[in-house]
Amino acid sequence: MNNQDIVNEIRRKTDIVDIIGEKIPLEKRGKNYFGVCPFHDDTNPSMSVSREKQIYTCFSCHATGNVFTFLMNYEHKEFNQVISDLASRLGIALNGFKPRKISTKYDDWYNIYDLANKFYQNNLMSKEGLPAREYLKQRSIDEEIIKEFEIGYSLGERSSLTTLLTKKGYSLDLLNKIGLTTNDYDIYHNRLMFPLHDLSGKVIGFSGRIINNSKQNKYLNTKETELFKKGRLLYHYHIAKETARVSKSIIIMEGFMDIIRASTIGVKNTVATMGTALTSDHIKDIRRLSNNIILCFDGDDAGVKATLSAGEDFTKENIEVKVIELTDGDDPDTYILKNGKEAFLSLINNAIYFSDFKIKVLSNNYNFLSSEDKANYIHDVLEETVKIKDSIRVEIILKDLAKKFEIGYNTLEKSFQELKNAKTEKLVDEILSPVKTASKEKKDKYQKASLSIIYYMLNNPLVIDKVERENLVFPTEALRALYCEIVYFYHKYGFINEADFYTYLTDKRELINLLNEVLVLDLKPDINDEELYDYVKVIREYNLTNAIKRLETKIKETTDQTLQIKYAEEIRKLRIGEK
Ligand code: CTP
Ligand code: MN
Repeated sequence: MNNQDIVNEIRRKTDIVDIIGEKIPLEKRGKNYFGVCPFHDDTNPSMSVSREKQIYTCFSCHATGNVFTFLMNYEHKEFNQVISDLASRLGIALNGFKPRKISTKYDDWYNIYDLANKFYQNNLMSKEGLPAREYLKQRSIDEEIIKEFEIGYSLGERSSLTTLLTKKGYSLDLLNKIGLTTNDYDIYHNRLMFPLHDLSGKVIGFSGRIINNSKQNKYLNTKETELFKKGRLLYHYHIAKETARVSKSIIIMEGFMDIIRASTIGVKNTVATMGTALTSDHIKDIRRLSNNIILCFDGDDAGVKATLSAGEDFTKENIEVKVIELTDGDDPDTYILKNGKEAFLSLINNAIYFSDFKIKVLSNNYNFLSSEDKANYIHDVLEETVKIKDSIRVEIILKDLAKKFEIGYNTLEKSFQELKNAKTEKLVDEILSPVKTASKEKKDKYQKASLSIIYYMLNNPLVIDKVERENLVFPTEALRALYCEIVYFYHKYGFINEADFYTYLTDKRELINLLNEVLVLDLKPDINDEELYDYVKVIREYNLTNAIKRLETKIKETTDQTLQIKYAEEIRKLRIGEK
């Protein structure tokens, strides 16, 4: 059997309802099953699973796919791993199955980073590594942790790594490009080396720390490359994605050393940015790990600022994080060294909500002897409280506030309601703003027509035949590519359905995204000819308008009268063709 046959057989013998049902409770409603979508923060059953079509779709976050994509995303596994897990579950032998190679462009890069990683780790254990080992010992980092975090050491010579890698046949150009050398010499000298992993655990760069207290930059990071972007990287993510599920929480810290120290006491559900503010990409990746997100930044002013800013960023995404507050200039590293495991675990258990943290921090900005300051503070607290969804917590905060400032609870509650109503009205206005939706609808008309046609092609081969006979040209490159893949799949295998087509597209991200848009359309099951040709007409009209626009621009851009006449003639023909 070849790959596609094996994959098809596994998919056919697997029931998506069983597999998803093992991970999240599903409830049958009509033909489909519904459950709480695990791919975004939700409590409503917005994910629908179809036994008939063997696909799942979330109406809220638009996650969709087949049993393979579900397991890949849910268990953070690669395609090959999912195939082999399911095969052993079904008792299917994988003889003849060649693991799918995802990309080849970066294979050299990954190999080089791996070699460098091993080289640095060996150096640390060599004679030259002694000062670095002493440094680690003095910071109470033992050999087990060194292995776990693959900590290494770069040598003092000008080009020890460069020599090793060029001997293996890698060009200096490539080494310079991927950030291990500069001007043909090693970048890192006499530094502790921390490999940086991407989300799936592949090494994509390094951070080198000095081991003496010289004035040099404390950490030297690999420059940004096509693979390594500082605003994307989360240190320790590839480990945390497993551990966060077990611990049911994810802790965000500031530094490598904090992560490493926490690991020594068994707290491994942690990630850190590289000393930068959280980006929206970071937030997306973090929220995929857990709904219970805890910030644990340094116990200094900068740490408080970072906590406020990160907390606000999550609030904007409708997530209320929790906060562990350290004091006395401690960071998680020094706190754990001083106070030990139990103390830190109890900090985790007693993490407070971000809004409570913010209310507490706000009070530092005011002088409570002034009535004006008092009123401003109360107003700020109300602004915060409006964002809280849990009405019990709201009442507790208002009661505390009433007591603290000796104001009537009803006065506070009235101000609270007024503020809340004003906020809600503003929100509703924004959502209902007619201008935006109208223009969007117009622009999306041809896109909707195209996606609908594709939807019916996937559901009924007769539609494929009809569309082929129309010689229809879809308006965007991605749509045309998806159309070609459908036609190709159908003629090659003699059938088509969403679930198998998904697997077939595995590596083509852009097409999968487009396919996801198709599958969440929520259209009725079948289409008659009249409706189909209406869609075709919408697309033809769109293409025609565009063609005419292009010719009109050409006429304006040239001064050559013969050309102008030629273009005008083409426009006339297009217009006649239209009738
Ligand atoms: N950082 C950096 N360049 C620097 C300083 C810091 O890239 N010159 C990044 C590193 O990723 C570091 C993080 O910012 O992990 C947090 O900085 P800090 O708390 O100073 O580092 P620690 O990892 O805690 O290191 P140490 O305890 O060894 O000082
Ligand atoms: Mn630190």
